[in-house]
Amino acid sequence: MKNIPIRSEAEIEKLRVACKLASDVLVMIEPHVKEGVTTGELDRLCHQYIEEVQQGIPACLGYHGFPKATCISLNEVVCHGIPSHDKKLKKGDILNIDVTVIKDGYYGDNSKMYVVGEPNVKDKRLLEVTQESLYIALRTVKPGIRLNQIGKVIQQYVEKQGFSVVREYCGHGIGDQFHCDPQVLHYFSDDEGVILQEGMVFTIEPMVNAGKKEIRLMADGWTVKTKDRSHSAQYEHQIVITKDGCEIMTIRDEEIASGRIQRVMKNS
Ligand code: MF3
Ligand code: CO
Ligand code: CO
Repeated sequence: MKNIPIRSEAEIEKLRVACKLASDVLVMIEPHVKEGVTTGELDRLCHQYIEEVQQGIPACLGYHGFPKATCISLNEVVCHGIPSHDKKLKKGDILNIDVTVIKDGYYGDNSKMYVVGEPNVKDKRLLEVTQESLYIALRTVKPGIRLNQIGKVIQQYVEKQGFSVVREYCGHGIGDQFHCDPQVLHYFSDDEGVILQEGMVFTIEPMVNAGKKEIRLMADGWTVKTKDRSHSAQYEHQIVITKDGCEIMTIRDEEIASGRIQRVMKNS
């Protein structure tokens, strides 16, 4: 059985604050993503910004021994890439930066993709499809639906576009802990009958591969790559279920301006 916390309005307010900080980091770092910069330097800038400007705590640092403040996953890296001062960005690289901030004991978790210069046609499509798969899920969630509908709509869309969904990592409940119930799968599977309810807080963070879905864990114990070395993309938002949809707690202004999603999604 699942034990999925229902968050109070006071907790939701703290989560909004943490989520705003986490999304601000993704915006802050964008102009620094340029040819020749190292992923270690991008991490250093995020780390410093979280601690010194935001007076927050980078949740990844030391989490199960993770050595850096952020995860930065380049090209064929699916997730949990370790930022490194030896890893210089090249033209055409695609990368995910995943940032989680703790503020006042509550967690805000999000990630997005960046491109160094112009992406090739296939990578551009990969990024568009991965982001749209997240948006489709955000347009689906509301109280009363089963949790496994999230994975269903993501998988259906992604596979129709000729890409694949990673199975081994999922979205997660989050609040005063980094990871809690429920597990939010990005493919269709049994969900033990979990029904979404107002006040549930979780992330949706599909990982989509340009090639096959299989992955491999590298010898560092963290870096996950596609087995076929095809490129992989991921976008992540943290949401709270509302009475008729969801609130996207990590939404960025650029996304609101796009008109494709709103902070408060009414999904009736
Ligand atoms: N932020 C990641 C997530 O979306 C978790 C990273 S855990 C770490 O759940 F240890 F790799 F940092
Ligand atoms: Co994350
Ligand atoms: Co997450």
